[in-house]
Amino acid sequence: MRSPLALLLSLVAVVSAQDSSLSAVKKVFDDANIPSDLSIKFSPRALLEVSLPQPTGGAITLHAGIQLPRNATAGPPSFRIIGARSRGPFVIAAVDPDAPTPQTPTVSQIRHFLGGSFTRLRDTLTNSTPAVSDFRQPTPPAGSPAHRYIFLLFNQPPGFESQTIVTPTTSISLFNISSFAETVGLGDPIAGTFMLVAPDA
Ligand SMILES: *[C@@H]1O[C@H](CO)[C@@H](O)[C@H](O)[C@H]1NC(C)=O
Ligand SMILES: *[C@@H]1O[C@H](CO)[C@@H](O)[C@H](O)[C@H]1NC(C)=O
Repeated sequence: MRSPLALLLSLVAVVSAQDSSLSAVKKVFDDANIPSDLSIKFSPRALLEVSLPQPTGGAITLHAGIQLPRNATAGPPSFRIIGARSRGPFVIAAVDPDAPTPQTPTVSQIRHFLGGSFTRLRDTLTNSTPAVSDFRQPTPPAGSPAHRYIFLLFNQPPGFESQTIVTPTTSISLFNISSFAETVGLGDPIAGTFMLVAPDA
């Protein structure tokens, strides 16, 4: 049997592995140059929790800037939002601004997920409409440093589900989340997180 202290320490480890502070998330985004590289304003008002199911059972919940081995990122992700007043609907997008490499991102952004009509029940976000772009596992090419895979949550404007600027058949490369957000009226993201994933060894 585990001692109370060991149990407490393991609980602390679990809790502190997830984002708990808006200012800390903002700082990690700023330090990773994400607002400037995506041409977005990022002042989060809630915490976005992204969890990836694991082949061995359980799930990994991201904290902003976590590095994960590629084989832990098959997904599909599940989402929670902490600290939001609105019940939604929300749009969630995930992009890779580092393809094929962070130094020469000539095909970026790659759209790794785009889905709308997420609503909140307590902290859990669910939707019942098909994603515009289903989740794609990170696949940074051999020789590249780790890529940033950035999840952003936006308030969803009326009419979003009938937008046709991006559809399931639109190329996922050369996406621009900032210009997409502007065109469909998403405004600035209200929450986000990201992970780093390097090529398989
Ligand atoms: C990922 O691969 C590594 C090494 O190849 C292995 O040790 C690890 O258990 C794998 N993890 C998962 C989640 O499959
Ligand atoms: C994306 O669009 C914004 C306008 O919303 C623009 O300022 C920016 O340069 C574009 N980024 C790229 C990489 O083309």
